Amino acid sequence: MFSENVRCLVVVGAQWGDEGKGKLVDVLAEQADIVARYQGGANAGHTVRAGDDEFILHLVPSGILYPTVRCLLGNGVVVDPWALVGELDALEARGIDLDGRLGLARRAHLVLPYHKALDEAQESSRDSAKKIGTTGRGIGPTYRDKIARVGLRVGDLADMIRARDIVTAGTNAANEAIERMGGEARVDVDEVMTDLETVRDTLLSLATDTGGEIRSGLARGGRVLLEGAQGALLDIDHGTYPYVTSSTTTAGGAGAGVGVGPTVIDGVLGVVKAYTTRVGNGPLPTELAGDEAETLRNLGGEFGATTGRPRRPGWFDANVVRYAAGVNGLTALAVTKLDVLDSFAELRLATAYELDGRVVSTFPDSIHELERVQPVYADQPGWMCETTGCRTWEELPGEARAYLRGLEKEVGVPIRYIGVGAARRETIRLADEGIAGAEAA
Ligand code: IMP
Repeated sequence: MFSENVRCLVVVGAQWGDEGKGKLVDVLAEQADIVARYQGGANAGHTVRAGDDEFILHLVPSGILYPTVRCLLGNGVVVDPWALVGELDALEARGIDLDGRLGLARRAHLVLPYHKALDEAQESSRDSAKKIGTTGRGIGPTYRDKIARVGLRVGDLADMIRARDIVTAGTNAANEAIERMGGEARVDVDEVMTDLETVRDTLLSLATDTGGEIRSGLARGGRVLLEGAQGALLDIDHGTYPYVTSSTTTAGGAGAGVGVGPTVIDGVLGVVKAYTTRVGNGPLPTELAGDEAETLRNLGGEFGATTGRPRRPGWFDANVVRYAAGVNGLTALAVTKLDVLDSFAELRLATAYELDGRVVSTFPDSIHELERVQPVYADQPGWMCETTGCRTWEELPGEARAYLRGLEKEVGVPIRYIGVGAARRETIRLADEGIAGAEAA
């Protein structure tokens, strides 16, 4: 997707996360100079396969596996310092050279033990019907402190006396809140400060101005990938609120989350699975139940990369992706895991919803309405053969081409990549015009 005129690309999830962004970023990072994360934290789990090796990355951008790529964590990311250092140690232990490879925004906020304790206490205190099903990584409480202007940022570690004041106020407030909720966990300021000392030098040695680095990289003619985490339907504003994460996952957050303006962004690639999954609670209109759900979950290996929780599978929902395309301004689509559908005799694709007796093709902004919609399906025959070996559009079975043609038409964005397996090479690439271009050729 990079070209003479396309040098800064955003890659986002266009469903509920876990779409396979890690693989796509990994595929595109080969041509990039900088790969930067702009939101989220260690709640993300990006699985990347390089050769026979599989890496699950939570904070470090997926570009780290290419030795010449500089990886950045922008100011919009919330960084769990110990998770980050653990991830860096694990990468080094597997032979990845990290020297000069990673930069961390001085303005990024830190996830501290009291944020995690609060996340857990809040979830346990909610009635089961109201649980968000968070990853327990302290994401919501950290963003809350950021917005309340009481958070601790990477740059604050330069002055541990000031850092202690922030940690003390945060710990006291969290301990009181946990007590009110009937929780047990108590966080100790001295312990947090001692633990911070163990990671402080590493964090400060990585500290940088991510926006400045990206702007000068682009001015030198470099290529930049801004890597989103989670997905559009988990966006704090545009997702299925309140069953969302606490950051702007959509492309509009990319510039703000690293420190560049929207005018530098040349394209937005939306990644979707050939079906749908969701982990955590909240509505999922095309959700499958029983044996079909079990089969799809097992074939797709649909268990959370961060928490191991079973994901909830469903048919592809064009209403969701059409909406995500609009909110993100998608210029291209990548469809992953097509091969997972290889053994289904019948496939369903939701093209509209029926809501209170009316057929609508928009995505409701109220979850109460969303809970009432009935998907309107277009059914089609499956292809019932292996697609993992396919490398071109023509090699795909006719039914798979028909399925993707229908999907592209419903969403209205050209498909540029089709994933047929987990490895980098198991990817079909189409030109700018998507399927129309491939069929005209
Ligand atoms: P949090 O981000 O841990 O606060 O969780 C909020 C919601 O977002 C929950 O439903 C999580 O399951 C979901 N979520 C967070 N990160 C991811 C992800 O990387 N993939 C899929 N779902 C996620």
